[in-house]
Amino acid sequence: MGVEGSRARHVAIIMDGNGRWAKRHRLPRAAGHRRGVEAVRKLVRSLRGFDLECLTLYAFSSENWKRPVDEVDDLMTLMRRFIRSDLQEFVDNGVRLKIVGDWRALAPDIVAMLDDALERTRHGERTLAVGLNYGAQQEIVRAARAAAAAGPITTETLEAHLDTADLPPLDLMIRTSGEMRLSNFLLWQAAYAELVFVDTLWPDFTADMLAAALDDFERRERRFGGR
Ligand code: IPE
Ligand code: IPE
Ligand code: MG
Repeated sequence: MGVEGSRARHVAIIMDGNGRWAKRHRLPRAAGHRRGVEAVRKLVRSLRGFDLECLTLYAFSSENWKRPVDEVDDLMTLMRRFIRSDLQEFVDNGVRLKIVGDWRALAPDIVAMLDDALERTRHGERTLAVGLNYGAQQEIVRAARAAAAAGPITTETLEAHLDTADLPPLDLMIRTSGEMRLSNFLLWQAAYAELVFVDTLWPDFTADMLAAALDDFERRERRFGGR
């Protein structure tokens, strides 16, 4: 029997469209990324109002290194500033930070800041997971290697070695900006996730839009292959 009306525990968002937002406003791309960080900040502040265990945000993909070095630098600078300015607020609001992806390959100062942030937020009751230098194919290869080193590979043992092993199953994946692709995000985890694509560019995404996507989710019938 299909499962209808169940509550989402884990939502992931592909935050896309910062560049197009900047272009539309005749601003440099960096301004689009800055407004994108503002949208993240507002959404994280609104999390208390949602009954979610985990929100996972795609911030930087393993393929985003292909962008011009200036843009990559802008994104890394924004990341440093965001951690510095918002970490205490995460701690105060019970947000547990989690990073997925090969984040230890980022600049050493960012790795140190993240290590500190993970330590300081570890008692939070709601999880904000952030994809940094994240690619799902790479994650699956890493998990497969680790699973093989520990014993036979099964769906369960491989899953237990994914970066998301300690997170609830993914219920809903949202992508902004009108693109309808997953761009190497949570490919394994999305096997039975519901997908929602919205035309809104990421800097214009609001908590009300997340609420609308969750309403949509609750009206869907999930079958997981059964009937
Ligand atoms: C998303 O916005 C931010 C990152 C991928 C880091 P984009 O920079 O991809 O914006 P568009 O897709 O070019 O509009
Ligand atoms: C996906 O967006 C990555 C993030 C949102 C961090 P991209 O803009 O990099 O994806 P493509 O290149 O359009 O598929
Ligand atoms: Mg994009």
